[in-house]
Amino acid sequence: MKIVRLPANCLPLPSRSKQYAMSTQTPMPDQAAEKRVNRMEKTIEIDWQKINAIIDRYSASREALLMIMQDISDIYNYMPPEVIPVLVEKIGVKESLIYSVATFYKTISLEPRGKYIVNVCTGTACHVRGASKIMDALAEKLKIREGETSDDLLFTLEAVRCVGCCASGPVITVNQETHGGLDRSSAVKIIEGCERDAT
Ligand code: FES
Repeated sequence: MKIVRLPANCLPLPSRSKQYAMSTQTPMPDQAAEKRVNRMEKTIEIDWQKINAIIDRYSASREALLMIMQDISDIYNYMPPEVIPVLVEKIGVKESLIYSVATFYKTISLEPRGKYIVNVCTGTACHVRGASKIMDALAEKLKIREGETSDDLLFTLEAVRCVGCCASGPVITVNQETHGGLDRSSAVKIIEGCERDAT
């Protein structure tokens, strides 16, 4: 089946503020939890100059907390928890508010996420056209389950509800790009293309 690469304006994603958390994750078995800990232990070098520049850009405004967290996430693909005490001190917000924002907005994560965020649409139209087969194929290819990130930090696999391109279902998005009219094979090819681009 031909892969349909949809125009960017077809997709309301990636909205920086409207992707509500819709996790349908199943409980994580011990092995997956262990992988998650391993990823967390991979320390990253935080560029504090960049962090401070972002905070200053928004004049350390409490109202700009979401945007500050999003801009930091844009650098690292997630918001390193080490930054939280700095935000508390400089912006004057409670730590609990930061956790609430990170929980509510799907675009912000406190855990490392992949370079490529692969969203499989599981809305009704895509569901009846085989979204679950696409999800299974990608999970098998990436050796991760929905909601997980690959050990090499290249891919995060997630499910989203309707991305607004129902007529082209089943649909996935990979970062900013939307792909429709997929089957298992064409979905896997998209992932293989990302792997090639990343090397
Ligand atoms: S249900 Fe998948 S794009 Fe609408």
